[in-house]
Amino acid sequence: MRAGFIGLGAMGRPMAANLAQAGRLEAVWNRTRARAEAFAAATGVGVATDPGELARRCDALLLCVSADADVLGVVDEAIPHLRPGTLVIDLSTVRPDTARVCDERVRAAGGAFLDAPVSGGVEGARGATLSMMLGGEARDVARARPLLEVLAARIVHLGPAGCGQAAKAVNQAMAAGINQAVSEALAFARALGLPGERVIEAVGGGAAGNWFLTHRGPTMLAGRFDPGFRVALHHKDLEICRDLAAGLGAHLPLVEMTLVHYRRLIDAGAGDLDISALFRHKQALFRG
Ligand SMILES: NC(=O)c1ccc[n+]([C@@H]2O[C@H](COP(=O)([O-])OP(=O)(O)OC[C@H]3O[C@@H](n4cnc5c(N)ncnc54)[C@H](OP(=O)(O)O)[C@@H]3O)[C@@H](O)[C@H]2O)c1
Repeated sequence: MRAGFIGLGAMGRPMAANLAQAGRLEAVWNRTRARAEAFAAATGVGVATDPGELARRCDALLLCVSADADVLGVVDEAIPHLRPGTLVIDLSTVRPDTARVCDERVRAAGGAFLDAPVSGGVEGARGATLSMMLGGEARDVARARPLLEVLAARIVHLGPAGCGQAAKAVNQAMAAGINQAVSEALAFARALGLPGERVIEAVGGGAAGNWFLTHRGPTMLAGRFDPGFRVALHHKDLEICRDLAAGLGAHLPLVEMTLVHYRRLIDAGAGDLDISALFRHKQALFRG
């Protein structure tokens, strides 16, 4: 299966690099062409001039772009050029409704669609240790599996189109709570005058240990917030969580609180920093 990759950002680039290394990548396309050319120079794969050309050259199109409108735009550009049976696999985090729209449009054009959002950060993308949440038809999941196994260590099919994105919304609501807990507790540790690295070592080995503490705790304490996962992107995901909860007549307190805190960070010009920049907000609690 010849794969093409669209969107060489923080997540897409290392995922595409893993596909190239496995000998499964035909070509790439990126909106900012210089990124695609740098990738091609490093890996030897081709650069397509647009998503349509990539669709004509490939049997599987994987995309990892920012938000709903970006996914729909790229998929709509590819659709008129899809070959019969081409798999379109969206690794971005978007609304379940967007996945269902993509599924309808791609199927109407003779292709197949999977929503395949991932969790595990840029480290997971680099190391191919991502956890992937899939929505779509079981037969398409089976066809895609050899490609997906190059990217992810855990691949879970949750149901028809949109179910992968719904599961990712659950993941993002949980990630908000974990960020709240870790950033607040580490600001607390600092205010208590404790050695932060030793706190991470001690706490990380007990019941409160978690991925975010291990991977973002040390950089948080060092005041380094290079993405990672941008505040603005998690804010976008939490708006998805808010809307899904509203559809159930519910209001999720952790999601709402984190949306307020991220809005403050975005308004202060920190929207492109890693979500661990919430630590800045928590430190301010101890300046009173
Ligand atoms: N970062 C993480 O830890 C993480 C983890 C799991 C899931 N995700 C999800 O993965 C997706 C990508 O995240 P990221 O961190 O890789 O973002 P990123 O570094 O900002 O990269 C975004 C990519 O999407 C492209 N893009 C954006 N809008 C586009 C459009 N309208 N048309 C074509 N291409 C477009 C960008 O192209 P340019 O180069 O031209 O800007 C870039 O290649 C998001 O949905 C995010 O929520 C991220």
